[in-house]
Amino acid sequence: FSLKAHNTFGVDAKARYFTEVHSTEELIEALNDPKTNTLPLLFLGGGSNILLTQDFEGLAIKLNLKGTHEDFINENEVLVTSKAGENWHEFVLFCLEKNYGGLENLSLIPGNVGTSPMQNIGAYGTEIKDTFVNCTVLNLENLQLETFNLEQCRFGYRDSVFKQDGKGKYVILDVAFKLSRKNHHIKTEYGAIQAELEHLGIEKPTIQDVSRAVINIRQSKLPDPKEIGNAGSFFKNPTIPLSQFEQLKENFTEIPGYDNGDFVKVPAGWLIEQTGWKGKQIGNVASHKLQALVIINANGKATGKEIFDFSTKIIDSVKEKFGIELEREVNII
Ligand code: EPU
Repeated sequence: FSLKAHNTFGVDAKARYFTEVHSTEELIEALNDPKTNTLPLLFLGGGSNILLTQDFEGLAIKLNLKGTHEDFINENEVLVTSKAGENWHEFVLFCLEKNYGGLENLSLIPGNVGTSPMQNIGAYGTEIKDTFVNCTVLNLENLQLETFNLEQCRFGYRDSVFKQDGKGKYVILDVAFKLSRKNHHIKTEYGAIQAELEHLGIEKPTIQDVSRAVINIRQSKLPDPKEIGNAGSFFKNPTIPLSQFEQLKENFTEIPGYDNGDFVKVPAGWLIEQTGWKGKQIGNVASHKLQALVIINANGKATGKEIFDFSTKIIDSVKEKFGIELEREVNII
């Protein structure tokens, strides 16, 4: 079964078995199927953060659980729960239509709601941990449902328990967020948002305006996976000790960095651009010409292995020039 339509890189890798589930019951049934229940499992959400480097000799399960549910907490707040298979951006738009605030800075992030806690998706000064309340998961060892609250998820920058100790042990079935119903906390500290709002001539932005600004920014430099295969940022922005950053600044006076206590977060896009990789293509794979951090399947024919090898070349160049080891953000299968 080809997984080409199920990963945003558009890589034509195959799975030995494939099934799509629409409910927890169907998921448990699929897991208990005697034909496949000893094989390795691959859970697919929106497929926006995976790179398939080879065919998958197991059962791929597409999680297509749908539905949203609202519970008013009080006149100021609402708890909105979404099933895992809802498209993230459509969920954000649904919240904005109802004038629920908190997710607007996360507009247009590819993928599904169910995978958002995996890497604590974030953009433009917001991460899901800021509004996350809990998620329901299926424990794959005993097929029991469990609830993970904010603390148990151990969210960090592009990180959670589901990428650490809990890796491969749970399937996220739904996610609940606490959103504002009025007196929204508008977050426009991120320079690019301010600039875009100014450009739009908006002085007192609503949450819908912030979403519009974020959509404009993303569309101006991030390739649409429907047109050009990609998985957003391919690498994490590395965090290095302040002392190392100060040393680098002597040779590279322009190096940008965001203060993080004794550490500094350096934009990987800048490092990659400095090594000359921005916009460069080898075979079917390239670094995006407007955002070096994004690796693209330039003509739709790239294999996962080609993309992986391309990313290794970038890692090597950045390591050689700056002594910084970039870490892949995308899940390598
Ligand atoms: N930069 C360059 N060259 C490039 C790209 C960026 O010099 O080719 C510089 C920019 O000039 C800027 C800095 O790097 O000074 C930061 O760039 P940008 O604002 O585009 O953000 P980013 O750090 O590259 C991160 C996230 C994005 C998220 C944006 C906005 C990571 C790995 N990526 O990118 O997330 O949308 O911030 O908040 O943290 C994703 O995870 O898939 C993703 C797109």
